[in-house]
Amino acid sequence: MQRATVSALRQAARQATPKAARAYSLLTAARALPKAPAATRGVKTLDFAGTKETVYERSDWPLPKLQEYFKNDTLALIGYGSQGHGQGLNARDNGINVIVGVREGGESWKQAQEDGWVPGKTLFPIEEAINKGTIIMNLLSDAAQSQTWKDIKPLITKDKTLYFSHGFSLVYAKDTGVTAPEGIDVILCAPKGSGRTVRTLFKEGRGINASIAVWQDATGKAMEKARALAVAVGTGYAYETTFEKEVYSDLYGERGVLMGGIQGMFLAQYKVLRENGHSPSEAFNETVEEATQSLFPLIGQYGMDYMYNACSTTARRGALDWAPIFEAANKPVFEKLYASVRDGTETRRSLEFNGQPNYREEFAKETREIDNQELWVAGRTVRKLRPDYKGEPVQ
Ligand SMILES: NC(=O)c1ccc[n+]([C@@H]2O[C@H](COP(=O)([O-])OP(=O)(O)OC[C@H]3O[C@@H](n4cnc5c(N)ncnc54)[C@H](OP(=O)(O)O)[C@@H]3O)[C@@H](O)[C@H]2O)c1
Repeated sequence: MQRATVSALRQAARQATPKAARAYSLLTAARALPKAPAATRGVKTLDFAGTKETVYERSDWPLPKLQEYFKNDTLALIGYGSQGHGQGLNARDNGINVIVGVREGGESWKQAQEDGWVPGKTLFPIEEAINKGTIIMNLLSDAAQSQTWKDIKPLITKDKTLYFSHGFSLVYAKDTGVTAPEGIDVILCAPKGSGRTVRTLFKEGRGINASIAVWQDATGKAMEKARALAVAVGTGYAYETTFEKEVYSDLYGERGVLMGGIQGMFLAQYKVLRENGHSPSEAFNETVEEATQSLFPLIGQYGMDYMYNACSTTARRGALDWAPIFEAANKPVFEKLYASVRDGTETRRSLEFNGQPNYREEFAKETREIDNQELWVAGRTVRKLRPDYKGEPVQ
């Protein structure tokens, strides 16, 4: 469908007459058919709602150019959690020299071997991998980066580049003890999603969004290297930022709407429905199932106005009236959260908790509590009714 037609239909729908509502339904139907137009390739400056931002794109780095750029390098991935897995396998598939460094005999050592990394050839203890690598990709857990830094830092000699996937360690140096070695490039590529998605999107030929930044530029080529590495590990679009902005927005987002906020909103809504005599299935369906199975994917596809316009006029009227009330109630909470991120409170909490030897069991206790909330127990029964239900994952 032509852009002009789409925009005319959108415009018509906004006038909210029954005819316009039908026009929007047509838009909905038509949108489902053709493929989205191919993104313009190689564009570096894009207009985001009036603000011009730099976005780098994979097409700037065709595979032969990427391989040529890294032909004298060895990427040493230190840590093999979800990012190590996704970024490492993608870079390896891109034909770059990659080795993995993890604790010998640990869980990651086993997982790396399952993914085809070979002890003594491409899989080494951490110290050995750092010695062999030219680009040291610190993908240990954030708490482990802090705990191991005194041993790792002296190994990062002047000829190496240091890479992170989170601004956490360097921005909160006062708490983490991680400071950049002098005279080397220190860069960041932080994929905006789980390492599992980094891998699946790459395999689908797409590529995840990532933030890239430079902390220290010793060679004058640090940003170029960050861009090339972003592509090497499977990024589709790389957005330029700073270490500070990356870590503030990341910690804030996951505590807010992405994870903490969504659980809080779901639970509060569910509880009020139950207190007013609604059954668990009704409360779950109206809170979670409709959101995740129907409405949130529409927001993802075309935005909030599209989702609103795809719903009944009754729903639309009420949502438009209540959205500002929720915004006003939540804004002070978000302000408090941002301040708590900015002043390092969230970092200290994270380091303290995740630095405990038994952090995995402690986490499991708390996430089990969520899993046992009536809301999520009811959800398991609802999920079983889905035609594509394949059972629950083993945790
Ligand atoms: N996961 C995400 O969604 C995501 C997204 C973007 C950026 N990031 C960033 O990417 C980085 C890596 O995150 P991740 O989620 O992939 O990793 P993770 O699961 O948090 O960390 C796992 C790795 O850390 C190692 N490790 C833990 N404690 C250690 C210690 N004391 N000494 C040596 N190794 C230790 C583990 O090895 P063992 O198996 O031997 O314990 C494992 O290889 C972090 O900076 C994170 O913030 C993560």
